[in-house]
Amino acid sequence: MRLKHCNNFHDFRKLAKKRLPSPIFHYIDGAAEDETTHQRNTSAYNDVDLVPNVLRGVENVDLSTTIFGKKIDLPFYCSPTALQRLFHYDGERAVGRAAKKFNTMFGVSTIATVPVEELGAIDTPKMFQFYYHKDHGINSAVLEKVKASNYDVLALTVDTITSGNRERDLRTGFTSPPKLTLSSLFSFLSKPMWGLNYVFREKFELPLLKDTVGELSNVATSIGSYFSTMLDQSMNWNDAEKLSSEWGGHFALKGIMSVEDAKRAVDIGCTGIIVSNHGGRQLDGSRSNFDQLAEIVDAVGDKIDVICEGGIQRPTHMLKALSLGAKACAGGRLYLYALAAAGQAGVEKALGLYKTGLERDMKLMGCTKISDLNRDNLRFR
Ligand code: LAC
Repeated sequence: MRLKHCNNFHDFRKLAKKRLPSPIFHYIDGAAEDETTHQRNTSAYNDVDLVPNVLRGVENVDLSTTIFGKKIDLPFYCSPTALQRLFHYDGERAVGRAAKKFNTMFGVSTIATVPVEELGAIDTPKMFQFYYHKDHGINSAVLEKVKASNYDVLALTVDTITSGNRERDLRTGFTSPPKLTLSSLFSFLSKPMWGLNYVFREKFELPLLKDTVGELSNVATSIGSYFSTMLDQSMNWNDAEKLSSEWGGHFALKGIMSVEDAKRAVDIGCTGIIVSNHGGRQLDGSRSNFDQLAEIVDAVGDKIDVICEGGIQRPTHMLKALSLGAKACAGGRLYLYALAAAGQAGVEKALGLYKTGLERDMKLMGCTKISDLNRDNLRFR
């Protein structure tokens, strides 16, 4: 199987599985405990049906939307995700360049593997994902670098106050940097191309963190233990508000699931929220992002940008979220399997497939612009 055989999300996932040592594949693919929330994040879209209209003259479709004050040509973007150079040697560079080709936004994590300044120079809208560390010196240093690097929106992660119970990672022994264990030895040896790229290309490290912490760059650490030991569990609304004012630009909370919190986000001056349960990787049993979307849009959708993040595998999933009132959709696995499968070319192919799929499905719905989508298009089963 090769890139040219990839025509949908599932094909990219299969090719990623073929290319990656299994602990790394399962780090992307896995979620918390029984992974019920992870599965529900996708199956929730199937509880709603689209009701199309016809005879509306749909030859020209405009997929553009405006989020965080920036117009983007697609109603979806690449969510920030960690450790991308473990998935492909170009890592965040590949994703940023692909996003630029489509004039959409891409996210960069505090746990990114390419310097934030370098990615900041990619001329397309950018989100920076902030992890709030116990060591406030790290927070200030990261903020300063990001401020100097041309990012359009700061998104504070609020759903990783401690680690989710990611049992696949426990089983495979996944760490960053990866370490060879007796049980993972075979999976690394069986992917020699991955190994050669890892060993002979630029050294794997986390540029934003490496000067202050060895974990994840030099000291093999699981994401779970990083979250639980390094992040500030006392983080509260005052801290978020303070960070927002120190940043001074568009500010979002990433990982909002309740109406109460959505309203509070408005009160502290957020210009957007990302309705997300972190891809089901944190609290298994929590509601799916799509199931929570309508009530959150009803509460705050006229004041701030509401983004639907998680579970999206098909353009029709996006149409459903946009019809409910999301300003845009986002996802990690949405492009990560494609990154692992074929780097920038893979991400471009994935974004292109979602784009042409959206154009097709908008036409089939009788819609020519995103604002044509509304709840009259939907029926809940
Ligand atoms: C994860 C973090 C790093 O879910 O976003 O693994």
